[in-house]
Amino acid sequence: MQDTHRPELDAFWMPFTANRQFKAHPRIMVSASGMHYRSEDGRQILDGTAGLWCVNAGHGRKTIAAAVQQQVMDLDFCPTFQMGHPGPFKLADRLVKMLPSGEFDHVFFANSGSEAVDSALKIAIAYHRISGQGTRQRLIGRERGYHGVGFGGISVGGIGPNRKFFSLLPGIDHLPHTHNLEHNAFSKGQPEWGAHLADDLERIVALHDASNIAAVIVEPVAGSTGVLVPPKGYLERLRAICDKYGILLIFDEVITGFGRLGSSFAAEHFGVVPDMITVAKGITNGTVPMGAVFVRRGLYDAFMNGPEQAIELFHGYTYSGHPVACAAALATLDIYEEEKLFQRSQDLASYWETAVHSLQGLPHVIDIRNIGLVAGIELAPRPDKPGARAFDCFLRCYERGLLTRVTGDIIALSPPLIIEKPHIDELIDMLTDVLKSLP
Ligand SMILES: Cc1ncc(COP(=O)(O)O)c(C=O)c1O
Repeated sequence: MQDTHRPELDAFWMPFTANRQFKAHPRIMVSASGMHYRSEDGRQILDGTAGLWCVNAGHGRKTIAAAVQQQVMDLDFCPTFQMGHPGPFKLADRLVKMLPSGEFDHVFFANSGSEAVDSALKIAIAYHRISGQGTRQRLIGRERGYHGVGFGGISVGGIGPNRKFFSLLPGIDHLPHTHNLEHNAFSKGQPEWGAHLADDLERIVALHDASNIAAVIVEPVAGSTGVLVPPKGYLERLRAICDKYGILLIFDEVITGFGRLGSSFAAEHFGVVPDMITVAKGITNGTVPMGAVFVRRGLYDAFMNGPEQAIELFHGYTYSGHPVACAAALATLDIYEEEKLFQRSQDLASYWETAVHSLQGLPHVIDIRNIGLVAGIELAPRPDKPGARAFDCFLRCYERGLLTRVTGDIIALSPPLIIEKPHIDELIDMLTDVLKSLP
């Protein structure tokens, strides 16, 4: 690869990116359609990651573009503080009807997963306070959890490099993560081993007393730290312990929401109902930024006390329920419904599972895990260079025409739900060639 300096790339400080490496060897996409990106050097790149876990309905959806265009013309912006417009009311009504078991009845809008998470954490603490349990302030996350980059999110999150430079929120504990190669390597779907790890919540409760604990937040399937699928019975156990002590359970479904696992949400897939669900990404097919918190029946009502003219929750964003984001989301939900994309994801899951597990035995592969249309392929790290092998794999895949995502020494795959079997075959062929060539 030739290193040619391009000054026009200098000013953008890229997020979560090795800026110098990128600017020396840029990977720039100029268009996208269906399952593919087109790079500026004119190559088709198969999207193995739905952008960044968000383009579930595939790229370049014309009905979403038309809805966005129309909305900008009709009503570009309108606040949702003390006034409103039809979009977020319509969208919230539609979303609560998609949620498992009719248990959720309100939606709070934000603009990203990070904001959705911080909103949910604040709602949990505020809820306990207005319910007369103001000592419930502590929050519990999990090691290897990713909940975005707000101070709340990095505090409950469990990723060392995201946390180490910053003062974090006080009063946070972490459950152990569930990744264990000795017991769970090459599991298909949910691993058999590990439900007992949820019992650590009992230890934390004994340490602080339940009267001080507001909420537990977990990703039902941890995505960003390499696709960690919950062991059988694990989420059920977390739910039971939270119920026992009056602790709210939050599922961060920024990745697992909107069909990734073959159901509308992971809560439905696993049959475990949390008290709040945070979403983003797939809610608009990635077209316009949006995040949201779904709250379970009773939570909102608890706030509806006091004088009627008083604001009940001092929290919100200028762009909560932005008209353009709502238009994009409504058009996205139409596509999910009309094309039955969640069902499609479920139908393809076993083909996907067989395909990704066919990589077992290739050089450096020490684990493969999958659920729905997600997979994690873990590589043995190079001595003294953690992450280098998988990053090399990512670069070679890109050269070969495949977009993957890398976290540590794990390659994560999460294609758009419109993927066809020949695309899956092509993706696996490319990855096989790259893994065989990888030092
Ligand atoms: C589970 C989870 N929560 C929160 C976030 C943060 O979302 P955003 O980048 O939109 O702030 C992500 C992003 O990947 C995520 O995977």
